[in-house]
Amino acid sequence: MLAVGANGAGKTNLLEAIHVGSQGFSPRTRSDSELIRFGTAASRVVVRGERGGLPVESTITLRLREGKRASLNGAVLPAAEQLRSRLSTLVFTPDRLAVVKGGPAVRRAYFDRTLGRIARPRAGLPAAYASALAQRNAALRRTGAGLSSRDAIAPWTENVADLGSQLYAARRDVLTLLEPGFGTRAEALGLADARLRYEGEPPSRESLEARLERDIERGFTGLGPHVHDVAIVSANRDLRLFGSQGEQRLAVLSLLLAEAELVAERSGVPPLLLLDDVLSELDAARRRTLAESVPGQGQTLITATAASALPGEPAQVIEVSPGHARTA
Ligand SMILES: Nc1ncnc2c1ncn2[C@@H]1O[C@H](COP(=O)(O)OP(=O)(O)O)[C@@H](O)[C@H]1O
Ligand SMILES: [Mg+2]
Repeated sequence: MLAVGANGAGKTNLLEAIHVGSQGFSPRTRSDSELIRFGTAASRVVVRGERGGLPVESTITLRLREGKRASLNGAVLPAAEQLRSRLSTLVFTPDRLAVVKGGPAVRRAYFDRTLGRIARPRAGLPAAYASALAQRNAALRRTGAGLSSRDAIAPWTENVADLGSQLYAARRDVLTLLEPGFGTRAEALGLADARLRYEGEPPSRESLEARLERDIERGFTGLGPHVHDVAIVSANRDLRLFGSQGEQRLAVLSLLLAEAELVAERSGVPPLLLLDDVLSELDAARRRTLAESVPGQGQTLITATAASALPGEPAQVIEVSPGHARTA
């Protein structure tokens, strides 16, 4: 599906609304008040569609200074974010280039979200690890301040080692799952021999104990998955540092398409793909490859300023103008 309209017409708004309606949160901002039209007090998004042959309808209501509410098929959800465990939507926006060119924290968060989507039973690991880490750091600081003994740190060291090793293993598994699809997509888009390389070692009780003094001094645990990174490489070139803007864009797109394939395989239902402004910086050959690599099943929404940007015939064209979206 192609959404076309001039700059500022509201294409990104439309795509964001679909994301909010199907996932319960914006891909752009954490501040829900930005999702309400200026000068009004509330907004609502209703998404109607079909998932695996069954009808779905989700509704999100946002009001200034109130929590958002979501329901799925008429049943109210305890939290709007729970939509994301029920419906899969993957999004590309130009900001996503940060996955390659941003700092390690952006990549950790990105791959941990992928972990949540393709390895559901282990989806809680990043949060469980973060909480163990915070408790160990607090224990380190109490000990450093002379408020408690070193023994008080030991149980948290144990916990960080255990959950940290599990998170490390889960992330490695995710990369192993993603890498073949990533390589194939990237190759098709012109990135030769593209790979994902995990950087970091699993924490152990011994390695944590070995740097206990330093950690107490800094009040911070200096090793573990919270300082790891993923190198995104093409032909032995690290795209984090040496990728051109175009190559970084292709890498992010390849990751997204690889994940879409995995989600479809594992859940039996292809995710909804939202690709914002993806065509603008691609040459004609790459646009064609991209149009061909978009999954045949499932639904993909692409935005562009002109219908001619997309090679081939989209199933549907939506014309976007300020305040309106209508099928052409
Ligand atoms: N909360 C809001 N209320 C009203 N208008 C908004 C809000 N947020 C953004 N806009 C406006 O919506 C317009 C359309 O933006 P956008 O969807 O990014 O356009 P496009 O992607 O088609 O270039 C912009 O002019 C922006 O200022
Ligand atoms: Mg836009």
